[in-house]
Amino acid sequence: MTTDDGDILLDYSKNLINEEVMRMLFDMARSVGVEAAREKMFAGEKINFTEGRAVLHTALRNRSNTPIMVDGKDIMLDVNRVLEQMKGFCHKVRSGEWKGFSGKAITDVVNVGIGGSDLGPLMVTEALKPYSKGGPNVWFVSNIDGTHMAKTLAQLNAETTLFIIASKTFTTQETITNAETAKEWFLQAAKDTSAVAKHFVALSTNAPKVKDFGIDTNNMFEFWDWVGGRYSLWSAIGLSIALHVGFDNFEQLLAGAHWRAIILQSTPAVFEGNKPSNSIIFKKLTPFMLGAFVAMYEHKIFVQGVMWDINSYDQWGVELGKQLAKKIEPELQDDAEVHSHDSSTNGLISFFKKNRS
Ligand code: F6P
Repeated sequence: MTTDDGDILLDYSKNLINEEVMRMLFDMARSVGVEAAREKMFAGEKINFTEGRAVLHTALRNRSNTPIMVDGKDIMLDVNRVLEQMKGFCHKVRSGEWKGFSGKAITDVVNVGIGGSDLGPLMVTEALKPYSKGGPNVWFVSNIDGTHMAKTLAQLNAETTLFIIASKTFTTQETITNAETAKEWFLQAAKDTSAVAKHFVALSTNAPKVKDFGIDTNNMFEFWDWVGGRYSLWSAIGLSIALHVGFDNFEQLLAGAHWRAIILQSTPAVFEGNKPSNSIIFKKLTPFMLGAFVAMYEHKIFVQGVMWDINSYDQWGVELGKQLAKKIEPELQDDAEVHSHDSSTNGLISFFKKNRS
């Protein structure tokens, strides 16, 4: 069984599916309200009910610019404002107009972030390497193990390096620790804190924390709480993509993802087969096609979430993990027994403390 809209062929015949199963799946999707949920998402309703937030990464690539209202405000005005800011910045950096503290142009961009503030741009810049001519090199540092940052910095020159500190909350421990290391390394070379403004920009929803870190909020590219971390490459989080492959190609990526939402026309042609795998064929991996491809998987996750009654946008669990890490870190400083967690966690911490060298 295949769907083919002329640009992407998806062959899913190697799944345990026949026409009857497909019909039943469609019936099930209708009965659990996939279509209604989709309309709610696009209309800006707060379908991320555990966090009380809208889910509007689709607005970030809404190339039709149809107004999208959240709490009575058309968010397309903000989306377009930040896109313009990114466009201007990309032009300055890629043309060499943006100079570092010693008057040299930027040759290398380091994205410091983790999770959605790292993986999406990392994947896209890898996939679109053939489009990077004329752009700076990009590096991604996510691991709190200092080796990741140290190995990266060893290959860079502070005079020509731009750091992008990418963090929705600007409180994530890994990112802030790595950003501090980067700033310290940079200042050893620049020896002047005013030079930070030329070499550090922030991508965040949290302006006060960005300011506390020492980044001029004029050098902050904003996004919003209705952008889930896992879905954020289309937002300002995509700045490293736009710098590497150019803003026009970034817009193509958005356009491809927007086009994909205009969801799949099915033209079933029945083949035999029972191996659960999919084959996807397209002519060329362009920014547009990659956008379409990633959006296809995002939409799949959305449909699965509705069908299984799971909130695909919830992230309290991982946020709790971050809070726990903050609590545990000081508890590791001495050899005292720890009783403040559940027995499993207490046991793991004790084992670590007893056995560290
Ligand atoms: O994994 C949880 C999460 O909050 C993701 O949503 C996010 O991409 C990642 O952690 C990093 O968070 P932040 O962008 O706030 O630093």
